[in-house]
Amino acid sequence: MLDLPTVRTALAEKYDLAPSPELAESMSDIYEKMNRVVSPADWAIYAPYVKAINDLKVKRNAVILGHNYMTPEIYHGVADFVGDSLQLAIKATEVEADVIVQGGVHFMAETSKILSPDKIVLMPDMEAGCSLAESITAEGVEEMRAKYPGAPVVSYVNTTAEVKAASDICCTSSNAVQIVDAMESDTVIMTPDQYLAQNVANESKKKVVYWPGSCIVHELYRPEDLRAYREFDPDVKIIAHPECTPEVVAEADFTGSTSGIVKWVKDNNPKSAMLVTECSMASNISDELPDVEFAKPCNMCPFMKKITLEKILYALDTMTGQVEVDAAVADKARLSVEAMIDLSRKLGI
Ligand code: 13P
Ligand code: SF4
Repeated sequence: MLDLPTVRTALAEKYDLAPSPELAESMSDIYEKMNRVVSPADWAIYAPYVKAINDLKVKRNAVILGHNYMTPEIYHGVADFVGDSLQLAIKATEVEADVIVQGGVHFMAETSKILSPDKIVLMPDMEAGCSLAESITAEGVEEMRAKYPGAPVVSYVNTTAEVKAASDICCTSSNAVQIVDAMESDTVIMTPDQYLAQNVANESKKKVVYWPGSCIVHELYRPEDLRAYREFDPDVKIIAHPECTPEVVAEADFTGSTSGIVKWVKDNNPKSAMLVTECSMASNISDELPDVEFAKPCNMCPFMKKITLEKILYALDTMTGQVEVDAAVADKARLSVEAMIDLSRKLGI
């Protein structure tokens, strides 16, 4: 576990991280991308970290891959590429840097390491997990195979390297229906998200059987809350992530991956929108879309929020938090991830 007092003492010895309105002012081009959601006082606190991280990235030949759930100061301030799980996995295969810092959770860093075994992949906080990834092991995959002999296993990327290695192919929220439909068998096993699987089943020709995992962020939404909101604001566009229950998805005007959600809001520019997903999503796009009023509530992912500027700076400075995946496991897991990337490219996703 990261000991924050130790982290702070180590950083204070090397960097001047005191809040600085002057430095903040000199970096106003970055601040402009988040000034609707980050106060000037907070920006004066963040600016020294953003500068130190961006300087270190050059020194280390590092890139930061930031998931759409990162907080605005990470998403706009230090991330070199932002996107959903599929986009970040593809980016990990393309970047030429020596070091990848994963602005996201552990399974994403593992995916980057599986795809780029020669690069150093840094996880700023090893405890940034995921309730879905924790819900299943490779033995669970074998249990499903024994129950449904001959059925292929499509595992969500929100899984450990061992589970990916035990699967036939991976999927993300942006390609799950197409991947399942592309399987030859009539019955397809999906792990580990029961709600994604049920939402896929509602759109697919296949019989989908699934593992009973769930996302602790998306399972909290209830259809009656969305209906109540729509009653209050009949013009609101409700946009959900497919990790929500099918009952919630049925209330939505659109359902898609995190980047699918961003694209839908940018393309449609609704008067008001409720993003039925993690809180940072609305914050990260609200400056670009000043005419859209984003409805609260939202739910916070406690794992994604473990990643902070301070921990990114510490990881890059000390080169600690290096992600390792056993070579034999990585070789097998790579087949599942690459099968997904290849099929997605072929299908034009
Ligand atoms: P996306 O692939 O849609 O970005 O989802 C990842 C995730 O963890 C959502 O909870
Ligand atoms: Fe996992 Fe849910 Fe957090 Fe995404 S939002 S990382 S699925 S716990």
